[in-house]
Amino acid sequence: MPKMTRGGVVATLLGALMLFGLSLVFVGCTGEQGLAGPAGPAGPQGPPGEPGEDPTVACIDCHNETGLITSKRLQYSYSVHGTSAPESDTQTVYDYAGARDNCTACHSGTGFITWQEQGGSTSAVKAAVNNTRIDCRACHEIHTTYSEDDFKLRTIDAVPMLIDSTKIYDAGSSNLCANCHQSRTPAPVPGGGVVAIPNTHYGPHHGPQATMLLSIGGYGLVDDPNPHATQVEGGCVTCHMADDKATQAGGHTFNASLAGCQSCHEGLNTFDRHGVQTETKALLNQLESLLTQQGVMHDGEPVAGKTFTEDQVGAYFNWLYITEDGSLGVHNSYYVQELLKKSISDIS
Ligand code: HEC
Ligand code: HEC
Ligand code: HEC
Ligand code: HEC
Ligand code: HEC
Ligand code: HEC
Repeated sequence: MPKMTRGGVVATLLGALMLFGLSLVFVGCTGEQGLAGPAGPAGPQGPPGEPGEDPTVACIDCHNETGLITSKRLQYSYSVHGTSAPESDTQTVYDYAGARDNCTACHSGTGFITWQEQGGSTSAVKAAVNNTRIDCRACHEIHTTYSEDDFKLRTIDAVPMLIDSTKIYDAGSSNLCANCHQSRTPAPVPGGGVVAIPNTHYGPHHGPQATMLLSIGGYGLVDDPNPHATQVEGGCVTCHMADDKATQAGGHTFNASLAGCQSCHEGLNTFDRHGVQTETKALLNQLESLLTQQGVMHDGEPVAGKTFTEDQVGAYFNWLYITEDGSLGVHNSYYVQELLKKSISDIS
């Protein structure tokens, strides 16, 4: 790795300042009496230093012999977030959608940074020329202050949900995650007249976890407070980033870890607490069989364009919502099981 000395950084900054000065001189020469321009934005804070200190110390605070960065890189190599190569059908985070306008906001690092800077709709975010996969810089402010502040998260603002901005996900560091991991399409409303599946992509989108935690986004049922939303104050990271040496989960693998559960459920040694995942799977299978018998689904896929009842379309939506959530009920067992039981009884 090339070492940039503090002197080098200072020289670069000085160079930039001189260019800026020069451009002011030119502006000054063209008019009779040019107006003073507005004050420029404050420059980034340079690395802190003390006289006589090793000039590369700011760099080696991080780029040193410890595992501070390399451990995260190892863990991250197990996370599908960082996948960019089209090697697997199931790992499409970057190669399928990362470089597409509309999708880049959640499927690439540069897209996410742009979305956070400009705010508003994800569909207004255009893919960058030098697009990146979701990398350290997507979530952290790497190389902005050259201090520990570089590990500050890109955002920790509370997140109004895309499908209902009156519902807000607010759980500290996990707000970062909720930006991307939420439903993008509201469920049909009973009495709203939705009686067809418009196309085979219809549904809440693949990562609806924050909306699921908040007990919204399903068809035909109002919210119920969820202990995993109200009592897990740290949100996603409590369960997904607690380091678990036994299973190598948690941390920057972002895979749920039992160590995270054990802070509340002492001694829990399975995610399938009280058989909740087993029961959710059974209910999902039962609902899929019904939908298949009734011609709403075929081979695990929805049948688009035909006319059904609202409850049939809603039942399909609930089936997909809970399937895509991926926790088999752990995120919100009460809401999930009520939604499934209601849809099963609606169409039986
Ligand atoms: C606060 C911690 C921190 C400091 C201080 C720091 N870096 Fe980095 N640096 C990182 C991280 C994190 C990465 C990204 C690693 C990755 O992508 O896997 C990185 C990446 C790099 C890379 C690889 C290319 C790139 O940009 O991703 C180079 C080269 C580099 N740093 C040089 C420097 C130099 C030179 C300095 C001092 C002027 C410095 N770093 C100071 C944390 C730091
Ligand atoms: C920039 C958007 C973005 C952010 C921020 C983000 N994710 Fe993700 N995450 C994704 C995408 C996109 C995928 C899908 C990967 C795939 O299946 O191709 C994903 C995948 C995952 C997976 C794996 C899912 C699987 O199918 O194996 C987990 C777990 C996860 N994210 C948790 C988190 C947690 C926890 C956070 C916050 C610390 C977080 N994510 C922040 C976009 C994001
Ligand atoms: C998807 C978002 C995401 C990505 C990508 C990501 N991080 Fe993090 N990182 C987090 C979150 C969230 C935390 C804070 C966890 C907490 O609050 O417990 C964190 C914490 C950290 C910390 C401070 C805690 C510690 O263990 O020292 C470091 C250092 C760090 N990350 C480095 C990295 C590096 C290096 C990369 C790239 C290889 C990276 N991160 C990629 C989300 C991310
Ligand atoms: C609001 C953020 C967001 C936007 C915008 C978004 N996605 Fe996603 N997408 C996600 C998340 C989060 C996941 C991962 C869900 C999981 O694994 O639980 C995902 C997963 C996927 C997957 C499934 C990957 C797999 O491994 O199964 C596909 C395909 C996909 N997205 C395509 C797209 C396309 C195409 C667009 C643009 C039309 C798009 N996405 C826009 C957040 C988003
Ligand atoms: C109460 C603990 C808990 C909380 C809080 C939590 N999760 Fe999970 N999550 C789990 C468990 C357990 C699983 C299922 C893991 C398994 O069965 O392997 C899971 C599954 C997932 C999956 C699917 C993983 C896969 O392999 O398909 C994603 C993505 C995910 N969670 C993201 C999130 C996000 C984003 C948040 C916050 C908005 C969050 N989770 C909050 C415990 C939690
Ligand atoms: C911050 C505390 C906290 C954490 C962390 C936590 N839970 Fe819970 N969980 C609760 C509370 C409170 C309830 C509701 C009361 C009860 O069932 O004990 C609950 C309920 C549940 C339920 C539904 C009720 C039932 O029948 O069992 C399941 C399943 C569950 N938790 C699994 C998990 C798993 C798996 C993890 C880790 C991935 C986890 N929890 C992490 C606090 C927590």
